[in-house]
Amino acid sequence: MKVAVLVSGGGTNLGAIIKAAHSGIIKSAEIVCVVSNREGAYALTRAENAGIPHRAITKKEYGDNFEAEIISYLDSMGVELVVLAGYTAIISPEFIKKYENRMINIHPSLIPSFCGKGFYGLHVHEAALKYGVKVTGATVHFVSEVVDGGAIILQKAVEIQPSDTPETLQRRVMEEAEWELLPRAIELVASGRVSLSGRKTQIR
Ligand code: GRF
Repeated sequence: MKVAVLVSGGGTNLGAIIKAAHSGIIKSAEIVCVVSNREGAYALTRAENAGIPHRAITKKEYGDNFEAEIISYLDSMGVELVVLAGYTAIISPEFIKKYENRMINIHPSLIPSFCGKGFYGLHVHEAALKYGVKVTGATVHFVSEVVDGGAIILQKAVEIQPSDTPETLQRRVMEEAEWELLPRAIELVASGRVSLSGRKTQIR
């Protein structure tokens, strides 16, 4: 299955996906391109180093048309599955519809906690620490019209340490959960082992 990874920042999740493709954890999918909505995102350097076609397609350059430009690039690469890995731009309903049940996202909490509008990056971990939860984690889900509301594919819990700051917690959630879950979810979806009934997934 041809996969595109959409990024905005450091690309540590993209790095985990590339590693998983090389180690054989991902064997039913081929990463055919990486797209960043921000120039200079280090994720683009990771794609470059891995020899993966990549582009920065930005609002600055394409204005309101920038998502249409992304979609036409994905079409030109024959993309069948879109992976949002630290991608921060809003996805339009048309984009979601086009890739219905073929677009997945990694979110750094156990959805439905600490998710939805405004919960991204460090804000997620700040909210978890402020609330005083003892366990947080990460979730991979299908993208639906409800922000972070699509059917859940995989989740993994991570214990919060008393000394945690938002930064140390973010790092541990990435290391212990995100970087494991996203490659696994890509392989499960690409190998056809995820089926959907309503908002629930079954994994074979
Ligand atoms: C991180 O906050 C991660 O939890 C979330 O997106 C942000 C950047 O990820 N998924 P990455 O390093 O660009 O993959």
